[in-house]
Amino acid sequence: MTKVLFVCLGNICRSPTAHGIFEKMIAEAGLQNHIGVDSCGTGAWHIGNPPDDRTIAAAAGRGYDLSALRARKLCAADFDDFDYILAMDTRNLADIIKNAPDNYPGRIQLLLDYLEDDNILEVPDPYYGNGEGFERVFGLIESACESLLKELTPVNA
Ligand code: 4NP
Repeated sequence: MTKVLFVCLGNICRSPTAHGIFEKMIAEAGLQNHIGVDSCGTGAWHIGNPPDDRTIAAAAGRGYDLSALRARKLCAADFDDFDYILAMDTRNLADIIKNAPDNYPGRIQLLLDYLEDDNILEVPDPYYGNGEGFERVFGLIESACESLLKELTPVNA
C-alpha cells in the first residue's frame, strides 16, 4: 500500500481538506486497499480539534464531510509510516525536511507539484482571510489530488 500524508500548519484548514478530498477519490476509484491517506500539522495549537468551521462548510458545499477529522501534529513515526509527505506551502515543506531523518526513503514535496499550472506552487493559508480563500483552496487541492491519484493508481488496479 502507498501511504500519503498531507501536511499544513494547523491541520484544520488545508491538509484536512486534502485528506477528505483524496480519501473520497480513493474510495470512488475502489483503491482503498492500494492507497492510504492521513493529514497533520507542523504546529500544535489545534491538536484534537475538528477542522475550522469555514473548512467544514466549504467542503460540505461540495459533498465532502470533514467533521469527523481531528487535528494532530507531525511526529517521528510519520517518516516510517508514509511514502509521500506532501506540504501545502514552502514553510510546511521546510519544517517537514527539518524533522525528517537523513535516510527517509519516501518523497517530501509540495502538493501543488501535481498541479498542471506550474505558476502556482503553494496552497495559500486561508486562516486569516475571508471565506473566499477557502473556495480557492478547495479548487487547487482538488485539481492536484486528481493528478496525484493518476500517479498512484496501480497499472493493474
Ligand atoms: P492550516 O491553517 O495550516 O491550513 O490548517 C491554519 C490554521 C491555524 C493557524 C494557522 C494556519 N493558526 O495560526 O492557528
